[in-house]
Amino acid sequence: MAKAAIPPRSHGKKMERPKSPFATFQRILNYMLPYKVQLIFVVLAVFGSGLSNVAVTYLLKPAVNQYIVPLIGQKNPDLSGFKQLVCCMAAIAGGGVFCTYLFNRLMLNVVTGTMRQIRIDMFTHMQKLPIRFFDTHTHGELMSLYTNDVDTLREMISMSLPHMLLSVTTVISVFVMMLILSPLLTCLVIAVLILMLVTIRLITVRSARYFAKQQQALSRVNSYIEEMAEGVKVVKVFCREERIKQDFAEHNENLYLQASNANTCANILMPVIGNLAYLLFAVTSMAGGYLAAAGRMDLGTIAAFLQYTRSFSMPVSQISMQLNAILSALAGAERIFHFLDEPEETDHGYVTLVNAEISKDGTIAEVPYRTGQWAWKHPHHDHTLSYTPLKGDVVFDHVVFGYNSKKIVLDDISLEAKAGQKIAFVGSTGAGKTTITNLINRFYDLRNGKIRYDGININKIKKDDLRRSLAMVLQDTHLFTGTVRENIRYGKLDASDQEVYTAAKLANADAFISSLPQGYDTVLTADGVNLSQGQRQLIAIARAAIANPPVLILDEATSSVDTRTEALIEQGMDMLMKGRTVFVIAHRLSTVRNADKIVVLEHGRIIETGTHEELIRLKKRYYQLYTGLFELS
Ligand SMILES: Nc1ncnc2c1ncn2[C@@H]1O[C@H](COP(=O)(O)OP(=O)(O)OP(=O)(O)O)[C@@H](O)[C@H]1O
Ligand SMILES: [Mg+2]
Repeated sequence: MAKAAIPPRSHGKKMERPKSPFATFQRILNYMLPYKVQLIFVVLAVFGSGLSNVAVTYLLKPAVNQYIVPLIGQKNPDLSGFKQLVCCMAAIAGGGVFCTYLFNRLMLNVVTGTMRQIRIDMFTHMQKLPIRFFDTHTHGELMSLYTNDVDTLREMISMSLPHMLLSVTTVISVFVMMLILSPLLTCLVIAVLILMLVTIRLITVRSARYFAKQQQALSRVNSYIEEMAEGVKVVKVFCREERIKQDFAEHNENLYLQASNANTCANILMPVIGNLAYLLFAVTSMAGGYLAAAGRMDLGTIAAFLQYTRSFSMPVSQISMQLNAILSALAGAERIFHFLDEPEETDHGYVTLVNAEISKDGTIAEVPYRTGQWAWKHPHHDHTLSYTPLKGDVVFDHVVFGYNSKKIVLDDISLEAKAGQKIAFVGSTGAGKTTITNLINRFYDLRNGKIRYDGININKIKKDDLRRSLAMVLQDTHLFTGTVRENIRYGKLDASDQEVYTAAKLANADAFISSLPQGYDTVLTADGVNLSQGQRQLIAIARAAIANPPVLILDEATSSVDTRTEALIEQGMDMLMKGRTVFVIAHRLSTVRNADKIVVLEHGRIIETGTHEELIRLKKRYYQLYTGLFELS
C-alpha cells in the first residue's frame, strides 16, 4: 500500500515540531492576506497596547520626583500639575485598554474568515482526491485534520500569535526603559531572571514528560471506549460486560495516575513563577533602596523601575509557552497543507457526454436541452467534432490491474458486453468481481490493456461524463442523512415525485417505504441505521434506477433481500433495463441464470464464459458451483 503522505501525528510521545516552520507560516500568512488591512491595525494595536503600559509606568518617575516628593510636608500643596499628570496617565492607560480590545476583536474577524477558507479548500480538495487516497488513509485520520489541526491553528492565529507579539513588544520596550533608568539594576534583574528561566525550564521539561504520558493514557481510554461502543453487540452476545469493565478500569486508573502527576507538576509552575517574580521584586527593591540611600538614585526612578520589573517577568515566562503552542499549531498546519498538496485525481479526458437529437437517418445534433438521448462528443486534432450515440457497449481488452505494484488482482481480462446485454460475474470472495466494476468507472487506472465504451477508450472520456452514463449499486450501500425521497433523488437531482415513486416501485421498495411512519418523508440517519440491510439495498437500487443510465452495475445489490423480493426486483429491472447494459455480481446463482453472458472469475482470471446452459453443459467450475459441488466463498 502506498505510504501515507500526511505526516503522522506523534500521539503525545514528544513535543511536535514542524519540519519547515517558515514555509508553513508563509502559507498561513497567504491565507490571511485578504485581511491585510485588519492585520496592519492588529499589529499597530498590539504595539499600542504594549507601549501604553510602558509609557504609563515611565510617568511614575516625574510623578514621584516632581510632584509627590516636593509636595510631602507642604501645608497647602498645589495639586493641579499632579492632577494633570494623573489624567494624562489615565488617558494613556485607557488607550492601552482600547488597543487590547481592538486587536482581540479584529483577530476574531481574521481568524474566523481564515478558518472558513481553509475548511472550504480542504473539503473541495477532498472531493477531487482519487479513491486510492481513501484506501490508504483512515477516516479518523481525515477527521482529526478537520477537528484537532484546524482547531489548534485557529487558537494559534487568534491567541498565541498576537499575544506572542505583545509579549515580545513588552519585553523589548521594558528592557530598553530599564536600561535607560538604571543599567546597574537591569544587570541584577537579568541575573535573577536567568535563575527564573532555568527553574521554569526544569519544571516544564518534567511536566511535558508527564503530559505526554497523560496524553497517551487518554488516547488509550478514548480508543477503548470507541471500540467497545462499536462492538457493543459482540460484547453482549458473548456476555463480556464484566471483563471489559475490568479492562476499562485499568486504562482509567492509569489515566488517573498520569493526570495527577502531570497536573501536580503543572500546578506548581505558576506559584513558582509567582514567587520568583516576588523575589525579583524584593531583590530589586533592596538594591534600589540601597542606591537611593547612597544618593545614587532618585525615588521616582526606583518606583518606575520596580514597576517595570513586575511587567517584565510575566511576558518573559510566557514567551516560551506561546512559542510551544505556535510550534505545535504549525505542525498541525503542516499536516493540513500536506493534505491540500495531495495530488488530485487526474483527468485527461476530452470526450464529453451531450444531449442529442438523433434523426431517422442517423445524424446526430447536439442540443442544449434534455432529450433523453445522449451522444459522445469527440473533438479531433483538426478542430472538427464527431458524435457517437451513447449505447452502452463495453469491451475489456486484455486488462491487467493491481491495487499496488506487489499483487496483480486482474490478469488479462477480455470480454465484450453489447448494448442491452446482461453480463453476470460469478466467482469466490476476493476473485476480483468488484474490482472489475471499479475499473469501468475509472476509480483506478489500468496497468495494462484497454476498456472501450461505445468504441471509445475510457481514458479519453471525461471522468464526470463517464460516471454520469453509469449507475452503480455498490457492494456497501451508503445512504445519506435525509429523507427517503431525497436519498432516491440523489440519482437524478431534478427528478419529479412521480419519478421517485416509479423508481421505488421498480426496485420493489414502494411497499416498505409506504409502511414507514412518515413514508417517503421518513428521515434516515447515520447511513440508514433505522432500516434493515435489505431495505437499505432496495433504496440504493431505486436510487440507481431513477438515474436511468445506459449502463447499470449491481454489485451484490440483492444479497440481503429475500428470494421473493429479489425475483420481483429482477422483473422490474428487466423492464427498466431493456436495451441497456447491466453488469450484475451475485452470490446467489439463481439470479444470474437469465444473463446473456456469465463470466466465471478465479484469482483475477476469467476461467469460463457463456450462457447458463452452455456453462452447465461444460460441466466445469460453474456447473460445480451451481450444483453445490463447489462452495462460492
Ligand atoms: N482497495 C483495495 N486495496 C488493495 N487491495 C484490494 C482493495 N480492494 C480489494 N483488494 C484486493 O483485491 C482482490 C479482489 O477484491 P474484490 O473486491 O474485487 O473481490 P470480490 O470478487 O468483489 O469479492 P467479494 O465476493 O468478497 O465481494 C482481493 O484480494 C482484495 O484483497
Ligand atoms: Mg465484491
